[in-house]
Amino acid sequence: MSVIEPAVDPAVVPAVDPVVHRGHIFHIAGKALVTSAAAHLEQFADGALVVDASGVIVWCGDFSGLPLEFASLPVEHHVGCFLLPGFIDTHMHFPQVWSADSYGGGQLLEWLNECIFPAESRLADPEFAHQAAVEWCDRMITAGTTMGLIFGSAFPHAQDSLFSVARERGLRLVSGRGIQTVGPASASALIVSESEAIALSRAEIEKWHPLDEQERKHALQFVAVVPRFSLSVTRETLLALGEMYDQYRDRGVYFTSHLSENARPGDGEVDAVKAHYLVDNYLDTYDGKWLPGSQVGGKSFLGPRSVMAHAVHCSDAELARMAETATSIAHCPVSQLFLGSGTMPWKRTVASGVNIAMGSDIGGGDEWFMPQILNAAFKQHISERSIVGIDPAPLIDESVSMHPAELLFCGTLAGARALDLESRIGNFDVGKEADFVVLDPSAWDMYDQSLRHRRRHADPSIDRDALLFTLLMMAREKALTKTYVRGRKLETSTYPRQ
Ligand code: GUN
Ligand code: ZN
Repeated sequence: MSVIEPAVDPAVVPAVDPVVHRGHIFHIAGKALVTSAAAHLEQFADGALVVDASGVIVWCGDFSGLPLEFASLPVEHHVGCFLLPGFIDTHMHFPQVWSADSYGGGQLLEWLNECIFPAESRLADPEFAHQAAVEWCDRMITAGTTMGLIFGSAFPHAQDSLFSVARERGLRLVSGRGIQTVGPASASALIVSESEAIALSRAEIEKWHPLDEQERKHALQFVAVVPRFSLSVTRETLLALGEMYDQYRDRGVYFTSHLSENARPGDGEVDAVKAHYLVDNYLDTYDGKWLPGSQVGGKSFLGPRSVMAHAVHCSDAELARMAETATSIAHCPVSQLFLGSGTMPWKRTVASGVNIAMGSDIGGGDEWFMPQILNAAFKQHISERSIVGIDPAPLIDESVSMHPAELLFCGTLAGARALDLESRIGNFDVGKEADFVVLDPSAWDMYDQSLRHRRRHADPSIDRDALLFTLLMMAREKALTKTYVRGRKLETSTYPRQ
């Protein structure tokens, strides 16, 4: 294939200039699992990422080994910079774009009631909603989040703004309007009847989802079915939504919701779901088993394009069921800290085989920048319970020091897998679309100095891992200078901030 010619018709995928991006490359190559991420870590200290006219990666390796056929291409020199795959955030809330100011919230259910439902109701104003959409896309681009699975607003005009701004900017996303058919008074503006809920979700799919198979292969924006959580819908809603989802799931429509986030004894979310539905476990309510005693009442939402956010307090049976159905978890460590939701047990969740991707949970989390979310994951899991008994010792040792390749995997390739887009994005394998970010240490002196003066290790593989660890743990958003989707550099808006 010639790199001058786009692999795909430019009418379908707008052409970019073929180019060699030269910089220090890290990615998780191939079809890694979290348990094999370290073995799949690739580094090219003076690397080349070759992108063709359709934004597809045609070569990745050492610059010195650049094949002759690419030698005449222009070179974009990212001098002193690091190139990583674009970050994939599998859990975020569009109508909470300005909600990290949630003072007085407390834990999940009070926080929703006091802070979030009123904040989300403000998007009833179409102008406010449009500003929120512009800001949302700016924040994703600034954070280097090239793909997001986004809980949408209840208001169709707000979703129209989000999809149209994302389309104008060339940003990837999956979103669906947040469905609520029951709830407290503070959520009244967000609640619609069961029939309206189905009609609005269907209309959103028909309007914004690429239902055509050919179109879907190249699309950047997709739609999800998004009941807020089991407590915001009824059995009737779950029945009707399941029927509707079944009509669309084979055409790439997604499903996402919240699972086992808050387990405060007595009045927390998990007990409330079990008491309300009389089910054995929370996951059953999304698995069509929402009748008392977890009997089957309707269609399951689980599957390879289904993502359950949080999954902090799951039983082994729930984890096994997610693994079996290729449902993924969006792990949100910053949110867990922000809302006091506890710690997802890392070793047990990994052992179940379920795919674990990462989520910011904006605004349940207050951090957009994936490396800082990975930083929180590292700290959270190394701090997991480690009780050393005197005899025998240790009694419990759940503490894990995550490998930097595992961190990078969770923030990139695992997200692509969670969204069933692994054939298109997630790493720099040849044939994938060129979604990547540029980290420029010179943009922040402390980062720059820490990388320059880091301790060198004689063993090259330890030296590589130590560098990646520092690169991820110390990164801050101000050092992220460029964000590319399908080979195109994305620009933030120039709209006047008030
Ligand atoms: N559960 C139901 N709604 C929400 C929400 O908006 N954020 C979080 N973190 N959990 C939820
Ligand atoms: Zn959430």
